[in-house]
Amino acid sequence: MESGFKYRDVISITDFNRKDLELLFDRANTLEQYSKSRLRLLENKVMALAFFEPSTRTRMSFETAMKRLGGSTIGFTSEEAISIAKGETLGDTIRMLDAYSDIIVIRHRLEGAAKYAAEVASVPVINGGDGKQHHPTQAMIDLYTIWRIKGGIDGLTYGVLGDLKYARTSASFTLALGLFRPKKIYLISHPLLKMRENVKRYLRSRGIEFEEVERADDVIEELDVLYVTRIQKERFPDPSEYEKVKGTYIVNMRLISKAKSDMIILHPLPRTEEIDRKIDTTPHAAYFKQARWGVPIRMALLTLIFDVEV
Ligand code: NCD
Repeated sequence: MESGFKYRDVISITDFNRKDLELLFDRANTLEQYSKSRLRLLENKVMALAFFEPSTRTRMSFETAMKRLGGSTIGFTSEEAISIAKGETLGDTIRMLDAYSDIIVIRHRLEGAAKYAAEVASVPVINGGDGKQHHPTQAMIDLYTIWRIKGGIDGLTYGVLGDLKYARTSASFTLALGLFRPKKIYLISHPLLKMRENVKRYLRSRGIEFEEVERADDVIEELDVLYVTRIQKERFPDPSEYEKVKGTYIVNMRLISKAKSDMIILHPLPRTEEIDRKIDTTPHAAYFKQARWGVPIRMALLTLIFDVEV
C-alpha cells in the first residue's frame, strides 16, 4: 500500500497527516506482538544513529526496532567520540553516514540540524530531537499511547504541563494534537515557560480550542490526558532563569485525587521531580507503557519508510 512515509524524511510531526498516523498506529498494533522477536523484514538495511546529544530511550528503542526487524545499526553517542572533536563539520559527518547506511537518525542540540542533515543526505533522515524544536517520533509514541488506551484521540480534553518553552516533546505533542480533533487543550505552565508562539499559531490555524493557564489545580478535573515534561535545564540560556522556575510544579497524589478516575498521565521521560513516584502504581500512570511502545511504533515507522509489507 502506498503511504505518506515511503522513503520520506521525518523532520516534524506536521509533515504527516491524520491518515498517515492512523496507518502507523494500526501497523504498530500488529507489530506489538513481535517486539521481542527477530523478523527478517529489513535484513539488508543499516541504520546510522547520529546522537550528538544524550539519549536513553530514543536511541535504544530505534536500535532495538531496527534489530528486531533484522537490520543492523552503526553510530555514536557523543560529539567527543567522533571527528567533530577534530573539527569536522556536521555536513561532512552526515555525508559519511549517508555513504555507510540506508537511514539516519539524528539528535542534535541545534534547531534545524535534522532538516539540514536531510538536505545533505540522500537516504531518509529521522529527527530524534533538534534542540527545543521537534521530536516527531516521540509525538507518534505519545498519540499511539492515547489511541491504545483511550481508543482514539478526538474529543478528549488535554493538559500539557511543564516546560512548554524549551521541551521539544511538548511542542511536538501539541502540534500532533492539531492533526486530530481534541475537545480542548490546556497549556499549563509558569509564565516564564509558556508555549512558543509558532505552536499556538498552528493550533489557531487548525481551529483547535486552547487556553493558557498557570496551575494544574485549576483544570485537573476536566482532563482526560495530562502530558508532563521536565524542566529542560540544559537549554536555559541564563541559569538564573532556571532558578526562578525550578520546582514550580509537581504532579502528586493531592492533585490526582481531583482527577477523573480514567485520566491518564503521559511523560516522555526522563523524569526528575515533576511526577511523585507514588503515582507510578496508580492506574493513571501511562508513562512506562508509553516508553515500551516506542519499539513497536519505531518498527512500524521503519517498515513504512522502507515500504515493506508486514
Ligand atoms: C526527551 C527529549 O530528549 O526530548 N526524551 C525522550 O526522547 N523521550 C525528553 C527530555 O529530555 O526531557
